Amino acid sequence: MEIVEVSPRDGLQNEKVHVSTADKIALIERAIASGLRRIEATSFVHPAAVPQMADAEAVMAGVPRRADVSYSGLVLNRRGFDRAVAAGVDEVNCVVVASETFSARNQRMSVADSVDTVRDLVGDARAAGIAVSVTIATAFGCPFEGEVPESAVLGLAAQVAELGVDEIALADTIGVGVPAQVTRLVAGTAAVAPDVRLRCHFHNTRNTGYANAIAALDAGVTVLDSSIGGIGGCPFAPDATGNIATEDLVYLLDRSGIDSGARLPDLIDASDWLGGVLGATVPGQLARAGAFPG
Ligand code: COA
Ligand code: ZN
Repeated sequence: MEIVEVSPRDGLQNEKVHVSTADKIALIERAIASGLRRIEATSFVHPAAVPQMADAEAVMAGVPRRADVSYSGLVLNRRGFDRAVAAGVDEVNCVVVASETFSARNQRMSVADSVDTVRDLVGDARAAGIAVSVTIATAFGCPFEGEVPESAVLGLAAQVAELGVDEIALADTIGVGVPAQVTRLVAGTAAVAPDVRLRCHFHNTRNTGYANAIAALDAGVTVLDSSIGGIGGCPFAPDATGNIATEDLVYLLDRSGIDSGARLPDLIDASDWLGGVLGATVPGQLARAGAFPG
């Protein structure tokens, strides 16, 4: 399986402490040193909407360029896409939302307009040699509308698959999902998008994130997002908390005999370092508990 390290984007975007560009680049370097090869480095959104991501271009200009590392940038509109391409990303992560209220609050567009945005970008991305991943946000529940019908998620997945994207992610933006829901949604998505790679994105808000991760792998998902330290959250979702922690996930995978390519001791170091940068105890538990056997 493959991990997408999202701490530099989802992880930091909700942090109140301003993190310097140098520290963001150092975080990315630590992720790479830990064996992670797909990194969501930043987002190309409006700097006033998410001030922590205002240095997107500077982050991309400072990261080590390697043939075996793919950098993704989050993109919500044409302006963001053009910025991401100019900054030299390897892939874009576009977001469509499964509920209209969150779509309006998060990216100031209807769900249909967000699908049109992706449609408008795919050809240019192909021409530029940039992969397109599309994240379906609030796929497991919406902070404003509550339950999200599975038919809405699958309908959206089908529309996005038809655009010829490389990957679709089911995202539990507010950490409400449970494994049975993961199993159903992944099977449904695979049925409507048979040729598209599937990724899942979990927040551990209600302590179901790791169970959901295993359920996703069992259902055939090959890519999971996680965040060093378990930091993260969305500024447009009330009470959003962190992603599943990369080090906790890798412990779980290692002990289950599932290879991710990531190295636990380096991840624990990175998590400890990140806690120092943020001046806070990070939510992930593995760095505190330690690996086993020691
Ligand atoms: N980067 C920088 N500036 C941008 C931009 C982008 N991606 N998109 C739009 N702008 C600028 C426009 O150039 C325009 O500037 P002007 O007034 O000087 O001409 C202004 O913003 C308004 O443009 P508009 O197209 O109306 O955008 P908007 O106000 O509807 O904002 C988003 C749309 C998506 C850019 C904005 O809501 C946003 O950045 N949201 C952040 C959501 C997010 O990061 N969520 C968490 C991750 S999912
Ligand atoms: Zn998230």
